[in-house]
Amino acid sequence: METAACKSVGVKIVSTGRYLPEKILTNEELSKIVETSDEWITTRTGIKERRIAAKGALSSDLGAEAAKIALTRAGLSGADIDMLICATITPDKIFPSTACYIQQKIGAAEVPAFDVSAACSGFIYALGVASGFIRSGAAKRVLIVGAEVLSKFTDWHDRSTCVLFGDGAGAMVLEAAEGGTDSLLSLFIGADGQYAELLHIPAGGASAPATEETVKNRLHFMKMSGKEVFKVAVTKMAEAFEKALAKTNLKPSDINLLIPHQANMRIIDAVSRRLGFPMEKTYVNVHKYGNISAATTIVALDEALEEGRLNKGDTAALVAFGGGFTWGAAIIRV
Ligand code: ACO
Repeated sequence: METAACKSVGVKIVSTGRYLPEKILTNEELSKIVETSDEWITTRTGIKERRIAAKGALSSDLGAEAAKIALTRAGLSGADIDMLICATITPDKIFPSTACYIQQKIGAAEVPAFDVSAACSGFIYALGVASGFIRSGAAKRVLIVGAEVLSKFTDWHDRSTCVLFGDGAGAMVLEAAEGGTDSLLSLFIGADGQYAELLHIPAGGASAPATEETVKNRLHFMKMSGKEVFKVAVTKMAEAFEKALAKTNLKPSDINLLIPHQANMRIIDAVSRRLGFPMEKTYVNVHKYGNISAATTIVALDEALEEGRLNKGDTAALVAFGGGFTWGAAIIRV
């Protein structure tokens, strides 16, 4: 699906925010839980540490904190939004949606609230959904949240996955803007379900409801075929960027900052090399947080703005890839 700026109603990014739990789990500490080492994790992934949510802290808690920061920065409160979308693959419950819990926690009015499930591409999917509502005139101000507590769905006995993931949340306030202002220059999203089983949680859904057997076999945790994910991720992230950029009048050199999904330093390196971006124009925070799925690109964008890596009027490209497989890219002007 592709969307390009529509002249009548623009989509303005009003503010962003992020929330990362305080608890840090270092590679050193992880090597006391499973047979691994700081050296193995660092050379294969670039990750040095990740954040872990407190016992009982849910995606809606982290998401609500990030949302409150974004709303405060915009001079708004929960009561001022007219739609709430949450991207997550670690919902509080299968239903109701995590968005409904966030709605309650930020004191939003009785506005539509729903989740988007597109794994690590979730935030870009949510941006596409929100912009569609805004451009059609159906919503004026939308809050989108990417929130994950992946630590609660991670098999802490499986060294091939538990070193990769972390917890966190980010949020963005979008508004309808008349008269030419448009922060979302283009957006491209795609998916291919033939890869569904390469990165998934096998049990807990209708295909394998919880039984003693599924629990014993640890099927309620994430499973991943790392090598296959790696190959498709690099190709599809590069392709998503190119397709999104082609909908604008811009050249790659006009992009001030590439913000790729932060799963793994080797994927980031390969994507930025393929697209011809030097590392100084590529944002990296995977060493601090690991992979926080749907929260990754919005947390990175919020940090890049705070650090002055992006300034008013700059153009950035958010690019993501995740379970499904899903992928997407958004070219934004901040
Ligand atoms: N510590 C030490 N050894 C380990 C660890 C660990 N944490 N994990 C695996 N190993 C061992 C394996 O058992 C294997 O040992 P063996 O050769 O004796 O059998 C060896 O290391 C090599 O294992 P591989 O799985 O072949 O390692 P690989 O080089 O493929 O690296 C990795 C694994 C880092 C997961 C890589 O495949 C990768 O980066 N994949 C991308 C996956 C990803 O980032 N997914 C995130 C979700 S999707 C997304 O967000 C893009």
